[in-house]
Order: sequence, then structure tokens, then C-alpha cells
Amino acid sequence: MRPAALWRHAGARPESAAAPLMRAPYRVVVITGASSGLGAALALSYAGPQAVLGLIGRSAERLAATAARCRDSGASVESAQIDVADGAGLATWLEGFDEAHPVELLIANAGISAGPDPGSPGEPAAITLRQLDINLAGAVHTIAPLVPLLCARGRGRIVAIASVAAYRGLPYSPGYCASKAGLRAYGEALRPLLSPYGVGVTVVCPGFFESPMTDRWEGPTPFLASGERAARRIKRGIDRGCSRINFPWPLVLGMRFCDLAPAWVGDRIMRGFHFHIRSA
Ligand SMILES: NC(=O)c1ccc[n+]([C@@H]2O[C@H](COP(=O)([O-])OP(=O)(O)OC[C@H]3O[C@@H](n4cnc5c(N)ncnc54)[C@H](OP(=O)(O)O)[C@@H]3O)[C@@H](O)[C@H]2O)c1
Repeated sequence: MRPAALWRHAGARPESAAAPLMRAPYRVVVITGASSGLGAALALSYAGPQAVLGLIGRSAERLAATAARCRDSGASVESAQIDVADGAGLATWLEGFDEAHPVELLIANAGISAGPDPGSPGEPAAITLRQLDINLAGAVHTIAPLVPLLCARGRGRIVAIASVAAYRGLPYSPGYCASKAGLRAYGEALRPLLSPYGVGVTVVCPGFFESPMTDRWEGPTPFLASGERAARRIKRGIDRGCSRINFPWPLVLGMRFCDLAPAWVGDRIMRGFHFHIRSA
């Protein structure tokens, strides 16, 4: 089906092969996983007197803390305790929020990480599938309901927070890598699909940064950045309208090398790392 037919029900029409994409400043911003780490730091960085923020997370207490700090910066905030794996609940909230405040920037950030126990030959299926449910299906549940609405208005930007783990499967986190590789591919696929409608897509593949998630990781975390620095780097890229934000470059290069090199080379390098993700 041609793009024009795809979106007819939403009243959207593709502008041209290169419709002008919306740029910063973004006033209405929705962020999942805003109760902690990167999501909370991004929420604060977009908070200001003109901002209307929709913040989603699971922990009521942490979400309220982020919302209070954003309100202190002058932002108007609506927060919602929703599990991103609950597609129907999330769609209802997103559509209601968008009706009241047409969304300009949507950041699918919520995520979890896990991995096999040390010495165990594999990752239990339930752990792999939970990461796919939250990191991949959860991001799809976040993005898909708003796509027709953004396209109908012909403006807005969608951001998918993947990881450098999207570039190459790592033996200590099969489910995490699979979920992030899927999210990266989903975002890359949406970009050329949505740009004719004037909607931009940014795929973010960061390396290690400090956060409650990283606190559970035991092993080398090369080029570890502070959470604030990572958020600043990501916001700068989003506001410039970047299609991709990948950092730090030595880690990105290393991961891409492991993917492009013969499998045995990458496998040998990966086996040299000993890493364990403690369960939450
Ligand atoms: N930390 C790193 O080095 C690193 C590197 C690359 C990519 N990333 C990615 O960056 C994103 C943010 O990670 P972070 O390091 O900031 O981790 P974090 O501090 O653990 O934050 C994760 C956020 O996701 C939310 N979340 C988790 N499961 C959820 C669910 N089912 N429904 C709704 N919200 C859920 C959490 O909410 P509650 O706390 O309320 O449950 C929390 O707000 C993740 O997608 C992560 O994979 C992190």
C-alpha cells in the first residue's frame, strides 16, 4: 500500500520526499521511564515555563519526585503510572494527553536490563521475553498510537532510546541486545516512512552512563559518562534534529567492528569480557 493510502484514515498526506521537519524548541514533550536515570534527566532538561510534560513510569514515588522538580522549573506536568507493556492502557493515556496537548516530542526511553546468572549456560526465556516486552514492544506501544496523530499534523519528532548493545549481541545480555537491536531497526525503518509527513525520527545508541540501571552492572563499563552528561548529549542531538545519536565513538566503533568482522573474531573479543547484570 502507498504511504498516502496508509494514512488516509488519519487525514494525513505526505508532503513531499523531503518535508521540513520540526526542530527545537519542543514545548509538549512525552517521556517514558521518566521516574529515574536518563528519562528523569531528559524531563528536567525540557522543563521550563512554556513546557507541558507528559511523564510515564511505574514508581509513583519516583515519578512524583521528577514531576515536582520539573514543576519547580515552571513546567506544567501530567504524570501517569503505566507499565509500557500494557499497550491498551498506554494508548488510551497517550491519545487523551495528545488531545489536550498536541505532542511535539515523544521519547521512548523506558527500559530494563538483565542477563544470565554467572556460570549459567543461558538466559531463562522468561527474562529474555520480559526485556523484549518492555524494551521493544513497550517502545512500539509508546510510538505507534501517536504516529498517525503526528503525521496528520505534519509535525513532531519521535526518539527511540536503544543502546550500543543494538550493534552486536553480547553474551552477558542476550535478551537486552535483542530488544535494543529490534528497537534500533524499528526506529531506522520509521524514519524514511515518516519524513514525508514532516515527522522526524531520532535513534539513540548510547554507551554506558551512570544510572540506577548501571548500578546493577558488575564488570567493565568503558567510557562511562555521568547521567547528566549523557542527557545533555542526547538533548543536543534531538534539538539539532539528528537522525542518529551514537556515543562514545570508540565504543561505537568497537561494537561495529565486532559486528562486521568474521564471527569468530567478535566472539573471541566478547568472551574476554566478564560482566554480570544483577537482578533488580
Ligand atoms: N545506563 C546505561 O548505561 C544505558 C546505556 C544504553 C542505553 N540505556 C537505555 O537508556 C534507557 C534509560 O535507562 P537508565 O539507565 O536511565 O535506567 P533506569 O534508571 O533504570 O531507568 C529506567 C526507567 O524505565 C522505567 N521503566 C522500566 N520498566 C518499565 C515499564 N515496564 N513501564 C514503564 N516504565 C518502565 C523505569 O521506571 P520505574 O523506575 O518507575 O520502574 C525508569 O524510569 C533504557 O532504555 C536503557 O536501556 C542505558
